Amino acid sequence: MKLTFIGAGGVRTPLVIESVLAFQSRIPLTELCLMDVDTERLELMRMVSEVRLRDAKPEFELVWTTDARQAIEGSDFIVTTFRQGGIASRVIDEQVPLKYGVLGQETTGPGGFAMALRTIPVILDYLDMIRDLSPEAWLINFTNPAGIVTEAIARVAGFERVVGICDNPSAMQRGLASHLGVPSDRLFLEYYGLNHLGWMSGVYLRGVNLVPELIREIKEQGVTLPGLPFHPGLIEALGTIPNEYLLFYYYPRKSVENLVKAGQSRAQQIQPFNIELNHSLMQIREEGSDPEQTLAAYSKYLEQRHSTYMTIETGEAHSSHTPHPDEDQLGSAAEGYSGVALRLIEALTQEAKSANIILNVPNRGALPGMADDDVVEVNCYVRDGVVRPFVVGAIPDHALGLMKQVKAYERLTIQAAVEGSYTLAVKALALHPLVPSYETAKLILNDYIVQHGEHFPRLQ
Ligand code: G6P
Ligand code: MN
Repeated sequence: MKLTFIGAGGVRTPLVIESVLAFQSRIPLTELCLMDVDTERLELMRMVSEVRLRDAKPEFELVWTTDARQAIEGSDFIVTTFRQGGIASRVIDEQVPLKYGVLGQETTGPGGFAMALRTIPVILDYLDMIRDLSPEAWLINFTNPAGIVTEAIARVAGFERVVGICDNPSAMQRGLASHLGVPSDRLFLEYYGLNHLGWMSGVYLRGVNLVPELIREIKEQGVTLPGLPFHPGLIEALGTIPNEYLLFYYYPRKSVENLVKAGQSRAQQIQPFNIELNHSLMQIREEGSDPEQTLAAYSKYLEQRHSTYMTIETGEAHSSHTPHPDEDQLGSAAEGYSGVALRLIEALTQEAKSANIILNVPNRGALPGMADDDVVEVNCYVRDGVVRPFVVGAIPDHALGLMKQVKAYERLTIQAAVEGSYTLAVKALALHPLVPSYETAKLILNDYIVQHGEHFPRLQ
């Protein structure tokens, strides 16, 4: 079995390889191929990976390449994890809307729109290559905005073997498990929404839904759950636990004010960390690649990135949780994106294994108010080549209404990207619930066109 990562110059690659190693006895892997178009970044991640894995015993071949065709050819699973335009484009994505008093964020609102316009044409080119060189492969999409990108592949390009993964629901699951004092695989979740726009309505332990009890605790005892920047009264009123990204919809003014007050968005906050990591690694390499220095530079980077996550947007200190002690080594390797992807691969390939995983997939009736081909984020049953969403049934109007509005924006964004249409792009952005008017949508789009220059698709 060949597993390929497209975008392996990203900073998570050493962690991805660690997850693969933790799963190697559970999947029949023969080759792990790590591909990126950026030679230097790929080299630096290779340098870190080799040190972190110096004692590991991979039972598969590890291939590093900048050749997309070589990477894709013969793959059984392809994970897309590239960031089109890199951090520099993310800075522009987030900076431009803030000038007009609108949210500047990687995936939500105009930032996600600009990223989608840049990314969709590129991922559809990769898809052509996949159809040509590994037509039976599964495509596991991490590339953001993950919901929109996955829908472009599934609905518009008509590719069936695609799933989108976000680490957010599994992080919520681990946070809840740690609060409840149980390992996270003991819980069964009912979760519904779009990517970065979802709600946890059920957390079952031994058949009992603990959400009502949790909400009571939050309200009465002031219990705070990691990564949930919501007023307890709001959670009680909703009767369900919102994904942290709903911050931008439930507190639109406060989140924008926090960003404006800080004078920088998340991309500008992390850019210096990225630059420092690259410089340090290049210097360490020049001086003979000392392993301890390499590890220290990388660990420092992870800590900087982790400890500042969502701090500007929420205006609060970083909240974290201690994992339950019974989370075994696989449990911790299964954290984050790559762990979710490996659990998926295991359940898809191992006859005796099935899994419940929250994924971005076509709705197929899971949420009756959404179209069957809308990509939604819900708990899925995965087994032996099959991924199917569990039926959620009726959901509250406030959630369905917001999902439908955002889905309308997503569909138009995809259509604008595929057709290269300026008119559709303005329409999409104007209909986003966080964009106040048609005029503002136009100002933001025109500004993106100027700022991104040749890195933005040409719209007619
Ligand atoms: C979470 C989300 C990802 C997003 C990331 C941003 O993990 O699920 O989709 O890319 O946060 O983190 P960053 O450190 O880049 O702001
Ligand atoms: Mn995500």
